[in-house]
Amino acid sequence: MQDAAYCNSKKTDGLCEDMCGRLKKGSRAAISISRLRCALRDFDMKALLLLFICIPTIVFVIYVHGQKITYFMRPLWESPPKPFNIIPHYYNPNVSMETLCSLHGWTIRESPRRVFDAVLFSNELDMLEIRWRELSPYVSEFVLLESNSTFTGLVKPLYFANDRARFDFVESRLTYGTVGGRFVKGENPFVEESYQRVALDQLIKIAGITEDDLLIMSDVDEIPSGHTIDLLRWCNGVPDRLHLQLKNYLYSFEFHLDDKSWRASVHLYQSGKTRYAHYRQTDVLLADSGWHCSFCFRYISDFVFKMKAYSHVDRIRFAYYLNQHRIQEVICKGADLFDMLPEEYTFQEIIAKMGPIPSTFSAVHLPAFLLENRERYKYLLPGNCRRESG
Ligand SMILES: *[C@@H]1O[C@H](CO)[C@@H](O)[C@H](O)[C@H]1NC(C)=O
Ligand SMILES: *[C@@H]1O[C@H](CO)[C@@H](O)[C@H](O)[C@H]1NC(C)=O
Repeated sequence: MQDAAYCNSKKTDGLCEDMCGRLKKGSRAAISISRLRCALRDFDMKALLLLFICIPTIVFVIYVHGQKITYFMRPLWESPPKPFNIIPHYYNPNVSMETLCSLHGWTIRESPRRVFDAVLFSNELDMLEIRWRELSPYVSEFVLLESNSTFTGLVKPLYFANDRARFDFVESRLTYGTVGGRFVKGENPFVEESYQRVALDQLIKIAGITEDDLLIMSDVDEIPSGHTIDLLRWCNGVPDRLHLQLKNYLYSFEFHLDDKSWRASVHLYQSGKTRYAHYRQTDVLLADSGWHCSFCFRYISDFVFKMKAYSHVDRIRFAYYLNQHRIQEVICKGADLFDMLPEEYTFQEIIAKMGPIPSTFSAVHLPAFLLENRERYKYLLPGNCRRESG
């Protein structure tokens, strides 16, 4: 009875019903075989379809978009970091330094502090020039360290040493050092990066930093605005460590992503205590303090170099990511080079930021040197996304 009921329930499958009907009177063994056959027949095309088309498709989608899926799920497994305590930032070129200090609750000094600007250099010569021209009036000593190894352990030329003449304007204030790469195969790139930061700590001491000097710790492409550094060197009462909130740009100043860059920091140097770092060191963040222009390169070849050299090299999941035409298209769209989702902590923010960054037509409040040399730095200004080959 049970067998019959089983078959009858599958009314659509006439063949099965027929076969089951015939076998109804057979032996026990025959019944169980027939049961199996019925089940298999019923399994039939739909199951095969599932097995050979749907499952491989799902596996393929996960393979291609797996990173996106995990990024999209991020709000489930990671909560946002503790919010910063943001200091409002007051500035207008026509307001006196005394007033600016007091607007921040600080007092003016008799003379400004000495300022040290220290960077680890890879190959970003244009960004370095814009940075140093912006900071030059306020910095006492520029410190630059470069290695013949990228963070990912690839051999690189000493780009700065080879082009040093271009930076004549800081030569008398420059402490330059090199450090040999360790070229350890298969190592996490963050190890080489921290090794280079320790070497930079030594170089800062060699440059002659002393107690209460102002030290800027940031990547070359994280550029504090000149007036921000001027304020910090002229006022008493400045916190002994603070992060700088910078505007995030991608590829050029045409693509303004958000205002959430915070890694750059400024320290009142304490010997034996201050360590060069690029992670969160305090909760204090000074608002609107400059620009962070990521992947702002002149040549497509520089993009390829950076993609291979940088600490997140694991993001190159497919060789075609390095294709020159693809890179050019991605730049002009303001899309993501690694085809990733925004790194945010709430679904709302991920969804809001999905897709390309819209162009901005504002070139107001950019580094002065950039505007004064707009022919040379055209590729960084709005409306010029096409890169020269080279
Ligand atoms: C700024 O100050 C200068 C001189 O101190 C003055 O000539 C100029 O009019 C001021 N500009 C504004 C917009 O107030
Ligand atoms: C890197 O630099 C170090 C120190 O200057 C040197 O000993 C080493 O041979 C260099 N390695 C390469 C591959 O150029």
